[in-house]
Amino acid sequence: MRNKKILASTVSVLAGVALLGGLGWITAEKADAQAQAARKPLTENDRQVRAQAQRMIEEGMRIFRFDTFGSEAFWGDALQLHQAIAGEKNGGVGGGVSPKTALSVGLKVDTEALPAELVAQIKAGKVDLDDPATTLALLKLNAVVGVTGKFDQAGRIQSMGIQCAFCHSNVDDSVAPGIGKRLDGWANRDLNVGAIVSLAPNLKPFTDLLGVDVATLKKVLASWGPGRYDAELDKDGKALRPDGKQAGTLIPPAFGLAGVNLSTWTGFGSMPYWNAYVAVTQMHGTGTFFDKRFADKDQYPVAAKSGAAKSASAGNTRGASDLTTSKLAALHFYQLAIPAPKPPEGSFDKTAAARGKDLFNTKAQCATCHVPPLYTEPGENLHSPTELGVDSFQADRSPTHKYRTAPLAGLWTHQKGGFYHDGRFATLKDVLEHYDGHFKLGLSDQEKAELTEYLKSL
Ligand code: HEC
Ligand code: HEC
Repeated sequence: MRNKKILASTVSVLAGVALLGGLGWITAEKADAQAQAARKPLTENDRQVRAQAQRMIEEGMRIFRFDTFGSEAFWGDALQLHQAIAGEKNGGVGGGVSPKTALSVGLKVDTEALPAELVAQIKAGKVDLDDPATTLALLKLNAVVGVTGKFDQAGRIQSMGIQCAFCHSNVDDSVAPGIGKRLDGWANRDLNVGAIVSLAPNLKPFTDLLGVDVATLKKVLASWGPGRYDAELDKDGKALRPDGKQAGTLIPPAFGLAGVNLSTWTGFGSMPYWNAYVAVTQMHGTGTFFDKRFADKDQYPVAAKSGAAKSASAGNTRGASDLTTSKLAALHFYQLAIPAPKPPEGSFDKTAAARGKDLFNTKAQCATCHVPPLYTEPGENLHSPTELGVDSFQADRSPTHKYRTAPLAGLWTHQKGGFYHDGRFATLKDVLEHYDGHFKLGLSDQEKAELTEYLKSL
């Protein structure tokens, strides 16, 4: 006992010396543990910082999950999507959207929002999942991940808005497929955004902006498929690739991004930059978004033509009231706090993964770009299409004209839909075949298999 204490204090003295000496090998956690061991009370400043961090995380979580940024003015009031969900029998239009249909287009149900007996009834198969009225009941309970219904006092749905969680959360399927506890930050690769938007009774806001008819718009919306969305269509109007293939990108995860410099597949900007972009220009919340780069008539003809860009400061969107800007700080903070989830025990071969790790860092040269433990470059984490050996279509839709080195932690959670920005590589083996050919790495089949196991372990 005493020996241990002496040892511990010697270690902490040495650590203190190292810290003073600027050797930097002591971690914040160790320093923290030592501070507690020495029973030093936190200073007032330390306490304030911790309290602020806690507040920001709680507030950010609420925003990520439940804040619509006023987007009901678009999805409900303008597109009338809530009417299609309700169906004629419930005061809307058409056949309505049953829970079965909602689940089939990738919407998720959060069981934590449901009373325990309802969860038991769902498990026992006693809830009618074919009736749109059940969907409305779930919306009333705020149990549809990323979608909020607005109801009047008589319980009739009046409008609806969407949240970040719509695309960037999943559930753990603990009750049934698509029904379980929330997993924030997970890319929803089942979500068919195009099919959902297509249901809207009024698509005029889209057809007017893009200058196309409803049939053309629906063709484009149908082209994305599950797990994809096109966040640049309303800027450049590029509905399809020149080869006729769909132009959407995969929904990326929104976890494990602390320390990652540029956001999005093509590195548009920082995380708060992109959060503002999405909330204001894609979710159609009310807020302020500013980027003069969208005034470029050649690259962004649709944005340059739209009302916002015609104003004195082109690329500037200002909502009548701003329901977004005040939320960006906490939202950013929360996202930075979401860790990349660890793969489940038994989901990869540990021995092969250990060999794959060596290959990743040496022969296969992956770590030159995917620098562990961020798995992207500290600094400007962008590469030209030619450097990567892929076409420039999506890169050229970004002001960077490049692709961002994708951070790989938690890769195992988003294998559905394929890899790279548009899912062009169906499997990790296909990704490795590409690198092997392009960089002439000379990897054997076994080495590719080992690298695959390593990628599954991140
Ligand atoms: C309709 C689906 C959808 C919604 C809603 C949505 N996103 Fe995204 N998000 C995407 C897609 C698709 C991309 C990739 C865009 C690209 O690369 O061009 C993306 C990219 C991102 C990224 C970049 C991730 C990375 O690896 O760099 C972050 C961060 C992000 N979204 C956060 C948010 C936040 C915060 C919200 C809510 C304000 C939100 N998203 C709402 C679909 C969505
Ligand atoms: C020259 C830099 C560079 C090198 C070297 C490199 N990568 Fe990448 N990697 C990228 C970029 C950039 C992307 C994003 C491509 C895109 O979005 O289309 C990417 C994407 C990926 C993806 C897809 C991630 C996703 O979410 O879809 C995987 C997996 C991957 N790389 C693994 C590897 C492995 C394994 C190696 C080594 C054999 C490697 N990379 C070498 C830059 C690099």
